[in-house]
Parts: sequence; structure tokens; C-alpha cells
Amino acid sequence: MSLPQPFQYQGSKRTLAPLILQYLPISTTRLVEPFCGSAALSIATAARGRAKEFWLNDFNKPLAELLALMINSPRELAKFYAELWHGDHADALEHYYQVREEFNRTQDAQLLLYLLARCVKGAVRYNGEGLFNQSPDKRRLGTQPETMQANLNAVSALLRGKTIVTSLSYENVLANLRADDAVYMDPPYQGVCGERDSRYFAGIAFDDFVAQLAVLNLKNVRYLVSYDGRLGSRSYGKPLPAKLHLTLVEIEAGRSSQATLLGRDEMTVESLYLSPALAEELEVVPTMHRRRRNEQMQMMEKPVPYGKAKIPKRVP
Ligand SMILES: C[S@@+](CC[C@H](N)C(=O)[O-])C[C@H]1O[C@@H](n2cnc3c(N)ncnc32)[C@H](O)[C@@H]1O
Repeated sequence: MSLPQPFQYQGSKRTLAPLILQYLPISTTRLVEPFCGSAALSIATAARGRAKEFWLNDFNKPLAELLALMINSPRELAKFYAELWHGDHADALEHYYQVREEFNRTQDAQLLLYLLARCVKGAVRYNGEGLFNQSPDKRRLGTQPETMQANLNAVSALLRGKTIVTSLSYENVLANLRADDAVYMDPPYQGVCGERDSRYFAGIAFDDFVAQLAVLNLKNVRYLVSYDGRLGSRSYGKPLPAKLHLTLVEIEAGRSSQATLLGRDEMTVESLYLSPALAEELEVVPTMHRRRRNEQMQMMEKPVPYGKAKIPKRVP
């Protein structure tokens, strides 16, 4: 199943989403994403009919506004994008810089869609003054307007009428959960620039995050966290502490192209942690999902039937 993706977003969980959503509670009424970014997991979950409602949140306000427009006004957004894209051909680079300047002045979410479609690696970067400063990708003109329109319509069809979008700091989302919510958290990467990661709009402090998870444990919240990982034998990011009693599922995410270039055959492994309440409900034990050599992500695409099912220890 190909999932709609209107824009690239660095750190997007689009490829891993079909596997991650296998670890959602069997009866998920509402999926909450406090750090939703491009909302890849909610889109995949909606496509599989695995939740009835969604709460998307991201501290980056124009990004949250863009998600709301994608869901509620896809036609208007597609028209705006097409006009901007067609205006781009005389001097594509100069056009990008003009749009970027206008976005920094107005914070207009519609302009952000164009910037994300055209910038290097879909990487959202801001300078110290909070201005979007990512460069254009000189090799790509960005998504064609027709493709963009199809993607926006598809996302809207999946999420419209069942999604709320907010732009709060994640603690305010966690303080307002319902008892039957399932929460997926994919916070900004750790260790790139200390606690603050300039690729994202805000950073989070490790100790605060751990304290928030401990409170969720006391409330028996069913949650999943993508956090640290490793490349070959080297770890990146600080693992979540044992005192949280989380169940670790490791996912081989793919071979590192940079390591391959350097002649090393190293696999990137991402950590997915399940809360005690969720691991108990799903009867999950610590697991490693391996990929066979040259295998694509299709093994991750197998849906788990929507009913009481034990999670396999290893996807064959
Ligand atoms: C790793 S990205 C999430 C990627 C997402 N899972 C996807 O598939 O696209 C982390 C997100 O957290 C947001 N963020 C950073 N600090 C935050 C905070 N304090 N509260 C809420 N969101 C925050 C960033 O703007 C960024 O979009």
C-alpha cells in the first residue's frame, strides 16, 4: 500500500510506520501524536483503519497550520501550491529565496508547503532568530502540482472529520489525554546540538521527557516512543532509563549509505519503546525486527489483523 506524503520531512517515519502501527493497542479509539511532524504514523494508521480519531500536535506553528489546511482545505491549498510552483520557472532559485523571505515575514503555512517540497532533504532548519534558512535543492524542482493535489486529497480523505490539530508544547498534550488514547511520540533527535536541535523548532530536555513518561506510567497510558538507536555497534542518543520499565522493540531501518560509501556494511537500528500498560495489553516481549540482505521494507507492510493478535517475535 503506498501512503500519501505531500512533503518530505527529515526524520519522517513514513517507511517504518506500517511496522510501528502493529504495536498500537488493538482497540485504538484515538491516536495522539504530540510530535507529529509530517504525521506519517497517523496517515498510515488511518489508511489501515486502525484508529477512529486523531490528535496531531507539533510545536512548530506554521507546520501544524499546514497539516490543518491539508486535511480541511486540500483543494485551496493545491491551487495555491500550483500557482506558486508555476511561477517558479524563470529563475527557480531566486523564486525559492523570495518565497522563503515572504514566509519568514508572514509565517504563512501555505508557503511552507512550497518550501518543504523544494528544500534540501525536506529538512526544516531555523537560524538563531527563528527564521527558516534551509537552502533549495538545486537538483529538484519540487513535487509536480498534479501529484501534490493527489497527495493532499488522499491525506484529507483519510483524516478529515476525525482529526484535531494543535501547536502546543508536548507536555500540554500529555496533560490532556483521555483514558482510552494511544500515544505515539517521536521527539526531536538528541545529541545533535545538545538539548536544542536546530533542525527543529524546539528541543526537549531528556530529564523532563523521562519525568513526563513516568507520569504517564502512573496513569497507565498506552504509549510508544521512538527515541535512540544505533549504527552498527555505535549507539546514538541516550537510551531511555530502565526505571521506566519500557519494553524495547528494535527495528532494522536500513543500511547506512554513508557507511556503505566508506566500505562499512552497517545497519541503522531504531529503538521503539512500549509503555508497561501497552506491552502488557499486547503481550509484547523485547523484540528485534530484522531485514534480510537487500530486502526492502515490504516485510514491514504486512498488516496485523485488526483483532486480538499476538505480536510476532520476529517478522519473517
Ligand atoms: C522527529 S520529528 C517528528 C517526525 C514525525 N514522526 C514524522 O513522521 O514526520 C520531531 C518533531 O517534534 C517537534 N517538536 C520539537 N519540540 C517540540 C515540543 N517541545 N513539543 C512538541 N513538538 C515539538 C518538531 O517541530 C518536529 O516536527
